[in-house]
Amino acid sequence: MYRFQLTTTLCYGPDSLTALGTLDGRRVLVVTDAFMSTTPLMAKVRTELAGASAVEVFSDVKPNPDLTAVTEGLRAFLAFAPDAIVALGGGSPIDTAKAVRKLALELGHRLPAGLIVIPTTSGTGSEVTSFAVITDEHHTKLPLTAVEMLPEMAILDPEAVRTAPPKLTADSGMDAVSHAIEAYVAKGSNDFSDALAEKALRLADTSLVRAFRDGADADARERQHNAATMAGIAFQNAGLGIVHSLSHAIGGSFRVAHGRLNAILLPAVICFNAGDLGFRPHDVGPVARRYAALAKALGLSASTERNLVLALNAWVEKLRTNLEMPATLTAAGVDRATFTAAVPALAATAHKDFCTSGNPVPATEKDLAALLTRVV
Ligand SMILES: NC(=O)c1ccc[n+]([C@@H]2O[C@H](COP(=O)([O-])OP(=O)(O)OC[C@H]3O[C@@H](n4cnc5c(N)ncnc54)[C@H](O)[C@@H]3O)[C@@H](O)[C@H]2O)c1
Ligand SMILES: [Fe+2]
Repeated sequence: MYRFQLTTTLCYGPDSLTALGTLDGRRVLVVTDAFMSTTPLMAKVRTELAGASAVEVFSDVKPNPDLTAVTEGLRAFLAFAPDAIVALGGGSPIDTAKAVRKLALELGHRLPAGLIVIPTTSGTGSEVTSFAVITDEHHTKLPLTAVEMLPEMAILDPEAVRTAPPKLTADSGMDAVSHAIEAYVAKGSNDFSDALAEKALRLADTSLVRAFRDGADADARERQHNAATMAGIAFQNAGLGIVHSLSHAIGGSFRVAHGRLNAILLPAVICFNAGDLGFRPHDVGPVARRYAALAKALGLSASTERNLVLALNAWVEKLRTNLEMPATLTAAGVDRATFTAAVPALAATAHKDFCTSGNPVPATEKDLAALLTRVV
């Protein structure tokens, strides 16, 4: 028996913030970061929470949250004893809120009115997943997973993303694209996750570059926001692969955004998973066939399945170029010598990463080291 989990209620469209009215009479802890806590969006959230019995704001979340942020968030939770958490922001506040909720539960504190998330970036999919990425004291990004971290409600208000600057739009957009592509070939992929991954990629194809070039393009923002959530549901149910294992390992030690790393890694990983570019034109393996099917779903055409895989790779590279993103780690500002020295340790960390088990083909530490060397 297989299970496709749909837990989070999605509220979307104009006025979707009014869904916060369900928290009337409740004690609400808002988890956000310092920047978001000063925005007009936060003021709107406060207005919609006017009926709550008490509102407390925890805004000490930093990008790529670490154990300190989670511990401080837990302290705020225990001091305030909320009925509900509202997470406002990108993946960092959302993941912090999820981890705080889980730890509080382990200490015996339930959250009767649940976790409501308002994503302000279109990328992580964290609003619909049971994952939270927390950085430990050794700078390792730990993808934690627990069903108790699944939010009860996600408010997909495209207005919340309108202020995201182009670089953030590009980075988070390529995170969503990598979720869709990895989920499509992951070991757990199925008809349901395939449908969402295909649609997410088609939406990103027509809206991501538009949202990057003109943040005020409401239609592009809305479509890209929906794409990110669809890709999130897809990978929540299908799993991810070694783009994410490698990205988590690199991101723990080098200051390059998660989505930017994924965009650099994707073409190399597609080639590796498809059996490398040496595979014979008319004798492609099952994973290459999956990439070829995804290329077709995107409307790409080519004479053979091998060429469809290459067309998918070219599509990723063109998207990356249109988003003005670097193609290599050194172009992204990573020091070559420092990175090369770190490759064995990074490969070992990536090999242990939870996402490696979802990759459609086995990847040894040696394979992962070779991939890291390929993208430097
Ligand atoms: N839980 C998951 O499944 C999952 C998946 C992928 C990534 N992640 C994690 O999510 C984190 C990255 O999240 P992110 O990329 O969404 O960004 P983020 O939450 O780290 O925010 C990055 C910066 O952008 C700012 N920002 C956010 N929204 C904005 C807006 N609308 N306008 C202006 N500025 C805005 C924030 O204040 C912050 O300074 C990483 O820690 C990553 O590892 C988690
Ligand atoms: Fe991701």
